[in-house]
Amino acid sequence: MRPGEGSWACLLLTLTAFQMLPMRPPGSWASRIIGGHKVTPHSRPYMASVSFQGQHHCGGFLLQTRWVVSAAHCFTDRDPQTGLVVLGAHDLRTAEATQQVFSISAVFMHPDYHPATHTSDICLLRLNSSAILGPAVGLLGLPQRPPKAGARCKVAGWGSVSNFEEPPPVLMEAEVRVLDLDICNSSWNGQLSPAMLCTRSGDRQRRGFCSADSGGPLVCRNQAHGVISFSGLWCGNPKTPDVYTLVSAFVTWIWDVVRRGPHGPQPSPPPRTTGGPAGVA
Ligand SMILES: *[C@@H]1O[C@H](CO)[C@@H](O)[C@H](O)[C@H]1NC(C)=O
Ligand SMILES: *[C@@H]1O[C@H](CO)[C@@H](O)[C@H](O)[C@H]1NC(C)=O
Repeated sequence: MRPGEGSWACLLLTLTAFQMLPMRPPGSWASRIIGGHKVTPHSRPYMASVSFQGQHHCGGFLLQTRWVVSAAHCFTDRDPQTGLVVLGAHDLRTAEATQQVFSISAVFMHPDYHPATHTSDICLLRLNSSAILGPAVGLLGLPQRPPKAGARCKVAGWGSVSNFEEPPPVLMEAEVRVLDLDICNSSWNGQLSPAMLCTRSGDRQRRGFCSADSGGPLVCRNQAHGVISFSGLWCGNPKTPDVYTLVSAFVTWIWDVVRRGPHGPQPSPPPRTTGGPAGVA
C-alpha cells in the first residue's frame, strides 16, 4: 500500500458501504479480474475492448460483424464518437497484427436502462464497418434461457489503469458459478431486479470481475449469459456478489435493434451532463 491509501480507503468505505457500484474505469478500485489467470491468446475471439483517449474503458463482445454488446453504464458519461472498439486483442499495450480497430457509429442504450437501479444495463454498439472474422476475431452467440444456479461460467476482461493498480498486461479470465438470484438479492438487501444474474466463486477464493471489466460477457457453454454490470466496493467480496445483466431477457430487444439497424430506433441521445449513479465519483 502506498502512503495515505489506507485512510482514503476507509473514508470511501464509510461513504459508500452497501451502495451498488457500477464497474467503472480509471479512478475506481482495483482493476482486474479477481482470482483469475491469463487467457490463452485469442482463445476468446469475441472479446472487445472499448477505449477512450487511448485508455481501455469497458469490455464487450462481438455479436455480429458490425455489432458489439456492452453495458449501458459504460456510455452514460462518454461521447461515443470519441470511442474506439478494438477486436482481436490480447495485449492492449501492443499494436498486435491481429487487432482490428473501429469507431462507434451509434450506441443503442436499452430504453429501460436506469442508472440508479442498474436495471437493463445493456447497450448495442454499431461499428463503422464490418469486422473481418478469423482465428482472432469471432462472434459469440446469445442464449435462449437463463443458466441454472450452480452452472460453471467464465468471465474475462482487461481491467484498466486505476489509482491503485497497474492494468493487467493481457486479457484475464476467472471461472465462477451462477448464484441463485434470491440468495443474491438478499445479499444486496433486496435491490436486485429480475433481469439480473449473479455469480460467486464456488469456493473460498475470491473470484469475479472488477472495474473496467464492465460490459464484458459471462460465458457459459459458449454463450453470452451475462453482461458485467456492477459489484460491491471490494471486488470479489462474497457479501456483495457480482451482478450481471441477464442476457436471455434481452434477446428479443437485441435482435430487434440489429435487424432494423440504422433504420430502426434512434441511437441514444448524447450523454447527460449530470454524473452517473449517486455516490460514485
Ligand atoms: C472505421 O474507424 C476506424 C477507426 O477510427 C478507421 O481506422 C477506419 O478507417 C474506419 N473505417 C471506415 C470504413 O470508415
Ligand atoms: C428482491 O427483493 C425485494 C425485496 O424483498 C423484492 O421486492 C424484489 O422483487 C426482489 N428481486 C428479485 C429479482 O427477486
